[in-house]
Amino acid sequence: MNVEYGSEEAHKFVTNVGLVTSDGPHGPNVMACEWTHHVSYEPGLIVINVDAADATADNIRATGEFGVSLAAEDQSVVSSVAGGSHGQSVDKIAVLKEMGVEFYAGKKIKAPMIKGVALSVECRVVETRELGDHVMFVGEAVDVRMSDKPPLVYHGGKYWKVGERVEKPSQDVLESIKRLVEKHRKGA
Ligand SMILES: Cc1cc2nc3c(=O)[nH]c(=O)nc-3n(C[C@H](O)[C@H](O)[C@H](O)COP(=O)(O)O)c2cc1C
Repeated sequence: MNVEYGSEEAHKFVTNVGLVTSDGPHGPNVMACEWTHHVSYEPGLIVINVDAADATADNIRATGEFGVSLAAEDQSVVSSVAGGSHGQSVDKIAVLKEMGVEFYAGKKIKAPMIKGVALSVECRVVETRELGDHVMFVGEAVDVRMSDKPPLVYHGGKYWKVGERVEKPSQDVLESIKRLVEKHRKGA
């Protein structure tokens, strides 16, 4: 069964706004990547899922490294530019620079990194796997920096700010859950 691009089902997911930077045969490049996930603490591993035909996939395959910046809540336009054209035909880094977005040289990787983001992670690829219609790159974090800016959220094809915190249930409800967990403990 498919979960089509842009479908109601696909729009149920709440995802990150990863800005994936790379530098390879297509030159320095940036793409928007909602399928950006932190999947291991030790070692620190970040997974990105990228369309195999994209410039980013070519660049990462050729160099074995990429940068992941989690866009901050004031950077939706950066994501729109990064996701709006392909590195084969547009120098998106130059577009963003002309818009006032600042970059710095990666400390451990060749790809440029973006300033003003919520979190920056420089990654070296430890595994590459074709998964359905995308390629999964697993990157080991080799340099990590963060700011105090909240991350931008992607949901339903739109950008969001992290919203209201859901309050914990009352003490009574917590106690009754505890009793139920004890009642259903296996092997007791
Ligand atoms: C918010 C947003 C999230 C996106 N997430 C992904 C993603 O997870 N994987 C992907 O392959 N493309 C994703 N895209 C589309 C790519 O960013 C787009 O195809 C881009 O042009 C690829 O650039 P490149 O060819 O320079 O690598 C997303 C686009 C936007 C705007």
